[in-house]
Amino acid sequence: MRMLSTKATCNSHGQDSSYFLGWQEYEKNPYDESGNSKGIIQMGLAENQLSFDLLESWLAKNPDAAGFKRAGEFIFRELALFQDYHGLPDFKKALVEFMAETRGNKVTFNPNHLVLTAGATSANETLMFCLAEAGEAFLLPTPYYPGFDRDLKWRTGVEIVPIHCTSSNDFQITESALEEAYQEAHKRNLRVKGVLVTNPSNPLGTTMSRSELNLLINFITAKSIHLISDEIYSGTVFGSPGFVSVMEVLKDRNCDNTQVWNRVHIVYSLSKDLGLPGFRVGAIYSNDEMVVAAATKMSSFGLVSSQTQYLLSALLSDKKFTKNYLTENQKRLNQRHKMLVMGLQKAGISCLKSNAGLFCWVDMRHLLRSNTFDAEMELWKKIVYDVGLNISPGHSCHCAEPGWFRMCFANMSEKTLNLAMQRLKAFVVESTAKINNQSNYHHSSKNSKRKSIPKWVFRLSSRDCDRDRESDER
Ligand SMILES: Cc1ncc(COP(=O)(O)O)c(C=O)c1O
Repeated sequence: MRMLSTKATCNSHGQDSSYFLGWQEYEKNPYDESGNSKGIIQMGLAENQLSFDLLESWLAKNPDAAGFKRAGEFIFRELALFQDYHGLPDFKKALVEFMAETRGNKVTFNPNHLVLTAGATSANETLMFCLAEAGEAFLLPTPYYPGFDRDLKWRTGVEIVPIHCTSSNDFQITESALEEAYQEAHKRNLRVKGVLVTNPSNPLGTTMSRSELNLLINFITAKSIHLISDEIYSGTVFGSPGFVSVMEVLKDRNCDNTQVWNRVHIVYSLSKDLGLPGFRVGAIYSNDEMVVAAATKMSSFGLVSSQTQYLLSALLSDKKFTKNYLTENQKRLNQRHKMLVMGLQKAGISCLKSNAGLFCWVDMRHLLRSNTFDAEMELWKKIVYDVGLNISPGHSCHCAEPGWFRMCFANMSEKTLNLAMQRLKAFVVESTAKINNQSNYHHSSKNSKRKSIPKWVFRLSSRDCDRDRESDER
């Protein structure tokens, strides 16, 4: 007799993905400036630590909010006993207003359509339970956030069918890619229940264009399926073009109260925009009453504590604070993003042009020994173990092309980011020199193996490296 359930013993959780394995390696040997200066720098974690000082100074000025007090009166008992899964009305109101603010107040949200969940993780899974049966499918554009294999599939039994996007058009979704994914699901005998996108994208760090959003709306209308838009990074947009929510496009198309209006659902969370992943605050926004009712009942399994709701309702209701926070946070993210892009450039590495998120989608195809995922793994291992940087390989994001990596830039100090870039550049220079030496040796021994030397060696000549070193020293 089996002692444990199939679910408990199956390995579809995805924790053996290199995305999670990199975290484990980091945990074993974490970089610390004074204690472990040779340790691994964590660049695989999409956390925002750039604006904690703003939150902390608000807390210092508003001690009641975190101190179980309202207008100086203790409300400990009230908070300790509150257990309604509809959430604190004040908090839901403040949260929908914040969501509208991050969308430039071009759309408004009704708090009665909002369901609180323990983070976006829980919101996405709950939506799967509401919209699909085990064995039915959602289409997801690749590359996608590695956690989705766990969040969407593991406990629900729902399948993910990839919509293959490629670098040829900067990984944008096309009509043919959507149709191909739909046909692929049919070939696999999977009924398609919807499309799930992240906008802004994790891992691309880009916002979706209106034309992409229109394409998606046309597609789900034609196929009579759902669209989930995970907008967890909606307030984490620091460059143009600005963020456009699918809700705004639906409004512009006068879709209010049509069938498609009820089939579009938004996922949100404060893990990224406020940098509070530990607080576990997420939400589902849906125009479908049945979805709202079902998700509310399911939210019993992952509620947000009343203490957290109380604190955050005070914080988010302070409009002066939210306005200043969003502006200042975006400014800081923009600076950080520039630092990473320039650091990569100095190492002869480019990345996808991006305007959002806490990471860059980095192109290291030229550093691969061959155009394969084995070569990507080989390079990834070198970067984790030899260079001491934990980054996420494209394969873990189901990218169709080997050689892309996600690198996070907002979960460390400027100094650590600079060190990470120095390490990466030294690695590229050293590898270049090594292979150049090999090439010279082979050449002089009239046994040149030029064909086996990666192309990048020739692009980043040692002269370029010397020039970079000089400019660094200046
Ligand atoms: C696109 C996306 N959705 C969901 C999540 C999970 O977020 P939460 O911490 O709110 O559960 C993440 C976290 O990285 C994410 O990037």
